[in-house]
Amino acid sequence: MNSLVLDSYAKLNLYLKVVGKREDNYHDLETIFERISLCDKITLTLRRDNEIRVISSCQNIPKDSSNLAYKSAKLLRDSFDLDKGVDIRIVKRIPVGSGMGGGSSNAASVLTGLNKLWRLNLNERELASFARKLGADVPFFIYNTPFALGTERGDKIKKLTKLDKVKLWHVLVVPKIKVSTPLIFEKLDEVCASGNATETLTIPEFDVKLLTSALSRKEFSLTRGRLFNSLEEITSGLYPEIRKIKEKFSKLGVKSVLMSGSGSTVFGAVDSRKEAVSLSRQLEVNKFWQVFVTHTV
Ligand code: C5P
Repeated sequence: MNSLVLDSYAKLNLYLKVVGKREDNYHDLETIFERISLCDKITLTLRRDNEIRVISSCQNIPKDSSNLAYKSAKLLRDSFDLDKGVDIRIVKRIPVGSGMGGGSSNAASVLTGLNKLWRLNLNERELASFARKLGADVPFFIYNTPFALGTERGDKIKKLTKLDKVKLWHVLVVPKIKVSTPLIFEKLDEVCASGNATETLTIPEFDVKLLTSALSRKEFSLTRGRLFNSLEEITSGLYPEIRKIKEKFSKLGVKSVLMSGSGSTVFGAVDSRKEAVSLSRQLEVNKFWQVFVTHTV
């Protein structure tokens, strides 16, 4: 085997509570990840030399050593002192800087793929410990699970096996905004330090247990008001377009709507593919929004 093609899936955060600031300047989180069908394609091909190359026609991602996919390959090559190289071809479909973890997912796919191509025989836990070194969102994508709970930096992963059979449908709206995650966390700290944090920023009405329990019973209507994201007010404050999308969803009668990660994606959770497709047609009217229909995978 000298080549491998992988689907590198996106994620949504159905719940994201910032619990507090850590000494390493990160934040402790409590978050529910969902893996969705929107994906990039990654092809890994062994090279005769020990070079690592990133190849992509996408203008929005770096092709040099700053690409997280490059860093993943280098981390494994250097950790095991290997004299091996790889070409990493990326066909990008997940919008960059949209809160759906595209770069992190690509990094995890490279770790998983090279584990096979380079015959490293690492298990999920060992791969996840390499993933943690690359970024807080990377470990989730190592675990083969549709839903997981992330704690600590969001990188301590517990599979939510109770939800293995749950399939949600979503309409995603991605405005033309690239959000900087560090900036959003910085603003959150400023607001919290100034004592101006509102309740919706800090205290969700419901908790992670109620949401997982509603989902496991497939009572999707009960997810209304239980989807929560501590970062939504901050990102909406900086980018009013996020609020505009939420208002549009509300006018269309969609009740379960949330921003993913630090933004800019806003998603609606609906009961069927049919409903998702019909909504997507109405949302696509706005030429500044990219609209996707996706589901849990
Ligand atoms: O780990 P990653 O590089 O994806 O994180 C990007 C930035 O987001 C971090 O540098 C940090 O500023 C912020 N972050 C955080 N707490 C987390 C995850 C991310 O403060 N749990």
